[in-house]
This record gives sequence, C-alpha cells and structure tokens, in this order.
Amino acid sequence: MKVLTLISTAIATAAFTLPATAQDADAAMKLLKAENCTKCHSIDKSKKGPAYQKVAAKYKGKADAEAKLTEFLTKSPKVKLDDGSEEEHKALKDPKAVATLIKFVLAQ
Ligand code: HEC
Repeated sequence: MKVLTLISTAIATAAFTLPATAQDADAAMKLLKAENCTKCHSIDKSKKGPAYQKVAAKYKGKADAEAKLTEFLTKSPKVKLDDGSEEEHKALKDPKAVATLIKFVLAQ
C-alpha cells in the first residue's frame, strides 16, 4: 500500500511538474535524511527552514530556479532561522546529490 501511494504520488507529480520517478524520490528522501536536511526541512511543514512545498512555489515557473538553487546549495549562504539566529546554510559537495535534491524539491 505504501509503495503504491508513493508511486501514484510520483506519477501525479511528474504529470504536472518535472519528470520524477519513484526511484528518484526515494533516492532524494534518503539523501535528505543522510545529510540532515530533515532537521530543518520537511515536505509540507516549515521547521527551522521553509517547507519544500513553499520553496517549489517560490521558484515555480522561474527559468533560473535550478541555477539559483545550485548556487544556494553549494556556496553556504548565510540564512536566518525561524528563531531569529543566523548560520551558514549546509553546503553539498557532490554535484549529483545537489541535482537530485533540487529536482526533488522543485517537484513538490
Ligand atoms: C540548520 C537548519 C538547516 C539545515 C540543516 C538545512 N537547511 Fe535548508 N534552509 C534553512 C533555512 C533557515 C532556509 C531559508 C533561507 C532563506 O530563505 O533565507 C533554508 C532554505 C533552503 C532552500 C531554499 C532556498 C531558496 O532560495 O529559497 C533549500 C532548497 C534548502 N534549504 C535545502 C536544504 C537541503 C537540501 C539541506 C540538506 C543538505 C538543507 N536545506 C539543510 C535551514 C536549514
């Protein structure tokens, strides 16, 4: 049942936004957990950082979305947490991981 839900979610997402397969989504979720992104982000609820659905909405229809997010995820910009404190955002080194995560975030 869980797998079915995941597959139908991926198909629904793919139909309206970027092509994404259940496998991509699975790989992205694993990465988010492994890199501790889930400490500050979730798909649909804002935590210390914005929900990925919010990020996707912000970049919807923007041609430079991937370029902007690639820069964001590789250059550690200063970000403000919701408690008002500031810190450098986590940066990723592996370009493949960056691409996978951006595609996933923008598909939410
Ligand atoms: C310590 C908390 C924290 C962690 C860990 C964290 N983030 Fe964030 N993230 C934030 C905050 C806060 C913002 C909001 C930045 C802003 O709007 O200025 C943000 C913003 C973002 C954005 C949107 C950028 C934009 O231009 O709107 C993306 C995408 C993102 N994070 C992805 C990730 C990924 C992927 C990881 C794991 C590698 C991660 N974050 C780990 C706190 C965090």
